[in-house]
Amino acid sequence: MQGDAYLKCIDPQCSLKYSIESPNVQCEKGHMLDVKYKNKPSVNLKEVFYKRRNSEGSIFNESGVWRFRELLNFCQIDTENIEECSKYLVSLDGAEGRQSKPYRMSKAAEFINISNDNLWLQPEGYNPSGSFKDNGMATAVTHAKMIGAKKIVCASTGNTSASAGMFAANEGINCDVYIPAGQIAPGKLSQAYQFGAQIVEVDGNFDDALKESLDDAKNHDGYTVNSINPFRIEGQKTIPFRALEYLNWASPDWIIYPGGALGNTSSCGKALMELYEWGWIKKIPRIAVINSEGASTLSDLYNGKFEGEELRWNKGNPNTELISRYYDHLDKEGLKPKTKATAIQIGRPANILKGLRALEFTNGVVTTVSDSEMLDGMSVVGLNGFDCEMASGASVVGIKKLISEDIIKKDDVVIGILTGRQKDAMLPVDYHNNPENKFAIPPKN
Ligand code: F0G
Repeated sequence: MQGDAYLKCIDPQCSLKYSIESPNVQCEKGHMLDVKYKNKPSVNLKEVFYKRRNSEGSIFNESGVWRFRELLNFCQIDTENIEECSKYLVSLDGAEGRQSKPYRMSKAAEFINISNDNLWLQPEGYNPSGSFKDNGMATAVTHAKMIGAKKIVCASTGNTSASAGMFAANEGINCDVYIPAGQIAPGKLSQAYQFGAQIVEVDGNFDDALKESLDDAKNHDGYTVNSINPFRIEGQKTIPFRALEYLNWASPDWIIYPGGALGNTSSCGKALMELYEWGWIKKIPRIAVINSEGASTLSDLYNGKFEGEELRWNKGNPNTELISRYYDHLDKEGLKPKTKATAIQIGRPANILKGLRALEFTNGVVTTVSDSEMLDGMSVVGLNGFDCEMASGASVVGIKKLISEDIIKKDDVVIGILTGRQKDAMLPVDYHNNPENKFAIPPKN
């Protein structure tokens, strides 16, 4: 496998290549990078992955991330050699991705108005730190270790910091987390403290925190673990891998994600591009990204709500000036992202270009939902015995909205990703104490 993996700029006109050991998250012209593999993995690996579900004592088989290690082998190791795996691969004792798979949730299906046979919801909140972030953090911290980084750094609306803090503590490396002061769920903040991360409170929103954290990483030798890091994207590919494997690699019609910084959208797109190119899937599922109404940058740009132009990847020639003008407009008007779903309260999605590429490849769609709709989505998931946070509720109500608009057809097979677990304890209490809420079960005296 030596020499199989490398980094490549995503801009087709630039296409600069770098060694897999490069610490940079951008090419020298400032474009994003992809992890690329020269060899095409054998389709026979499907059988190997399936067999690893009987872990036979290996945490790398137990892990829902490293079970697919041949498809993310940027360490270029012999993946059958467990000792070699333990030297390189970062894992929380095999817990990342271990419990994640698609489930049926009949009450959610009824609410959405879709047949229960056609709806799958995949909770990523049962990861060890409580969100999908552990999928990509296991791989990003693996790369950090591989290149000898002493400190990892991130900005976060909460879940990234919890995940980064957890893996850093487990690996004995330092971790600085930049958070928008007063704007993250208390449960997420307490996790970062609990895992011993150095909290840096930023007077601003996530976009401001990201800028500060990137400066810190650059000036103080930190390793950035936000989703602009291409190795984060590698681990997050396992979210669609697990979903597809569960369906025997028969593609659904749709995969639905809430949209924030668009790391998920990017990673799902990359996973589908690779699987299709390798002949592992015959049909390309369509991706739907659900923004909050109060943080709708992608939706505004993709749907032509700003200057009337529908922003597209355009085969690698996106109109980046349109994006800059949109951001200037936000600044000039003093418009800040605002939603109760703080996880996705993001105005400048750092992965927007990779996100557009994913949408182009999958003929994707983008829409918005309101805060009260997200709370209903979150609550109906709860009524099925599953826990998720408000931002994850966007997947549920996003599917409902797209079905009502006849964009998702009633007989389409749909997988919605429930990105994180409830970490704002009072949110369900407040929801259920208000009898006007659709699914409220108010307390009795
Ligand atoms: N859902 C949850 C629960 C999240 O925590 C996030 C992002 C998203 C959805 C959006 O995912 O960025 O891939 O589009 N949270 C980040 C954080 C930004 O810092 O924890 P995305």
